[in-house]
Amino acid sequence: MLRIGMLTSGGDCQALNAAMRGVVKGVCSKRDDVEIYGFQDGYKGLIYGNFEMLSSKEFSGILTRGGTILGTSRQPFKLMRVPDENGLDKVEAMKHTYHKLCLDCIVILGGNGTHKTANLLREEGLNVITLPKTIDNDLWGTDMTFGFQSAVDIATDTIDRIHTTATSHSRVFIVEVMGHKVGHVTLHAGIAGGADVILLPEIPYDIEVIVEVIQKRSEAGKAFTIIAVAEGAISKEDAKLKKKEYKEKLVNRTYPSIAYELAEQIRERTDKEVRITVPGHTQRGGSPCPYDRVFATRMGAAASQLILKKEYGYMLGDKNGNTIKMPLQDVAGKLKYVDPDCGLIKEAKMIGISFGC
Ligand code: F6P
Repeated sequence: MLRIGMLTSGGDCQALNAAMRGVVKGVCSKRDDVEIYGFQDGYKGLIYGNFEMLSSKEFSGILTRGGTILGTSRQPFKLMRVPDENGLDKVEAMKHTYHKLCLDCIVILGGNGTHKTANLLREEGLNVITLPKTIDNDLWGTDMTFGFQSAVDIATDTIDRIHTTATSHSRVFIVEVMGHKVGHVTLHAGIAGGADVILLPEIPYDIEVIVEVIQKRSEAGKAFTIIAVAEGAISKEDAKLKKKEYKEKLVNRTYPSIAYELAEQIRERTDKEVRITVPGHTQRGGSPCPYDRVFATRMGAAASQLILKKEYGYMLGDKNGNTIKMPLQDVAGKLKYVDPDCGLIKEAKMIGISFGC
C-alpha cells in the first residue's frame, strides 16, 4: 500500500487543483494500491488530524477549477515551534498524524512560508515533496510558480480596462498589484497592460520623477498616465529606513495601502485628478489560465515520479523550461526578487516606461 498525504498551505492561487490532479493521476496510473489523505486547511489539518481519505475520482474534473478542494490557511512558520492555546506542540502533533496514518510521504503545495515549515518537517524525518505555488513567483530555485501567469492575466486585464476609461479623462490612474515583497506580477502586468510607470519593491521610487513623467506626458498631449504599483513598492526615503523603523511606519500609516499614499503625493504636486484601482484578491481568483494548467500538471506529474521512486526532500520547479528538483534545504527561506538590472527592465526602459527612479 502506498499512502500519500496532501495539503495546500498559505494563500490560495489558481491551478492548485490542477497540480494535485497531476500528482494523483501520475501515481494512480502506475499503482492500484494507493491511499490519498487530504488534509484540510493546510498545516492546520495535519496538526489537528483533520483529513479525508480521497479516491482518485475526486481528483478528476478539477483541472480548471480555481481555489483548492482541500482548503487552505496561513500558519506562520515563526509560530510553528510555539505551542497552541491549549499547549499543543504543533510540530509533534504533525509528526504524530503522519505516523499514525503510516504515510509514505506528504505532498505540500505552497509558497515561501509553507516551504520553511515543509523543510522543518523534512528535518524532523518526514518524507516531504513540495510543489511551487504562489501568484507572487517569488520562490527561490524555480523560474516559475503556478498561479503567477493567471494573476498576471487578471492584473493585465484590470490595466486594460483602466486604459479605455483613462483615455476619456485627463486623470492619473494607479493600479495596485499584489505580489507581497516582490514585483514580478506588477512588472509583467505593467508591461503587458502598457503602464507608463511601474513601481516595484526592488526599485525604490522618487516621487519627483513620477511627477515629471506625468507632466511631460501632459505637455506631449497625453492627458492621462497609468501607474502600476506593486503593493510592496517603497519610496527612496522609506528605503533608507531601518527595517524596524519601516515596519513601524507601515503600522502607523494612515493610508490603506501604497496606492493611496502615492495618490496623495501626486495630488499635492500636480493639478491632476487621481483614481485608484486595487484588484486585490481577484488576482488569485477564478480559473487557472492555460499556462498555469500546463505548468501545474507538469509539476504534479513530476511529483508523482518522485513518489514512485521514493525520492523525498525536494521542491519541483522549472529552470529554462525544464522540470527540476531542488533540495528543500536549499530553497526554504529564500526569496526570488526582481533583478533591477534584468533584460526585461532594460527593455521596458528602452520603450520609455519609467520605474520612478
Ligand atoms: O502570497 C500571495 C498573496 O496574494 C500576496 O500577493 C499578498 O500580499 C498576500 O498573499 C495576501 O494575503 P491574504 O490572502 O492573507 O490577505
